[in-house]
Amino acid sequence: MRFIDDLEVMGRRVLLRSDLNVPLDLTGTGEITDDGRIRASLPVISKLSDRGARVIILAHLGRPTGGTFEARAAGGPSLRPVAARLGELLGRPVSFAVLENVRFEPAETSKDDTERGEFAQRLARLGEVYVGDGFGAVHRKHASVYDLPLLLPHAAGDLVRDEVAVLRQLTTDAARPFVVVLGGKKPSDKLAVIGNLLNLADRILIGGGMAYTFLAAQGYEVGNSVLEADQVPAVREVMAEAERRGVELVLPVDLVVATHFARDAEHSVVAATEIPADREGVDAGPRTRALFAEKLADAKTVFWNGPLGVFEFPAFAAGTRALAEAVAAVDGLTVVGGGDSAAAVRALGIPEKSYSHISTGGGASLEYLEGKTLPGLTALEADS
Ligand code: 3PG
Ligand code: MG
Repeated sequence: MRFIDDLEVMGRRVLLRSDLNVPLDLTGTGEITDDGRIRASLPVISKLSDRGARVIILAHLGRPTGGTFEARAAGGPSLRPVAARLGELLGRPVSFAVLENVRFEPAETSKDDTERGEFAQRLARLGEVYVGDGFGAVHRKHASVYDLPLLLPHAAGDLVRDEVAVLRQLTTDAARPFVVVLGGKKPSDKLAVIGNLLNLADRILIGGGMAYTFLAAQGYEVGNSVLEADQVPAVREVMAEAERRGVELVLPVDLVVATHFARDAEHSVVAATEIPADREGVDAGPRTRALFAEKLADAKTVFWNGPLGVFEFPAFAAGTRALAEAVAAVDGLTVVGGGDSAAAVRALGIPEKSYSHISTGGGASLEYLEGKTLPGLTALEADS
């Protein structure tokens, strides 16, 4: 893989693919609720423009739908507020081009190689070289991520370089014990990665919405908690495989359960094996918080992806906060894997430097750990 230092950028138009896909407050204002990915993209933008490049940023936002550019553009979301925030953070004006959200163009995400290739040709005419720095999107075989770099001299940006270095260390050279913590909503998103993590980790702590399917797989009632009933057989399989390999799987022992999903819902703590039929789990209980902290105490490597509860509601943030603090206290390599967990760390006000690395890639980090080939990295590795 080549890096920015290997690329002649002075006076040239550089097409920079960044991942500026930030969460927006969809309940009202459309405001950016966490600008971590924008901030993580700044160093490369500044580096390129300091070296005399004319930087043209390509990025996506959300998952616009509709069959035409016009339909998608009408439905949004527009990158305009992201461009404005970028300008504020860079301290220089960012002009907003007609390119807009690159996913407004249906060909960007097309499964048809020819359609994507033609769109990439059009994009390629806008610049002379390509820099891929959108780590969070490298798992997507999209025109601006995969096809475009194949058409131009290209290099990986510093963010991609650093993210890959950390993930490579996790997969090839992790100090032991290596403890993985997985939260978040659905096991279906993460069973494949758990399968591969059984080859890598010594201990896997399962919390958040995912845990209920694991509890159900052990035969417990989970009330109204999120349950992916169709995943129960796959979860049983993973549990059996963990047992065979001697990987310790740790589940919650108590939970905060609420009458319904709301900020001010009535709630109480129950044993994980005794969730009442009319309650839903919304956070880890105090015994679980202590257990998870104990299981992290001797770790030399930690990868954490996914919150333990509905941290957006203060009453149900204690589990995620305790976990974030326990990971921060670890004396070793600590990696917070993208998306919601990175946003949770920032929302809870925990200093980012408490961790070795906070990834900008949720799905991308998980697919890397799953052992999958990531199209965006394949393209950057190709000769140019
Ligand atoms: C992400 O947020 O996961 C990346 O920006 C990729 O977006 P996607 O999951 O909508 O492809
Ligand atoms: Mg995603």
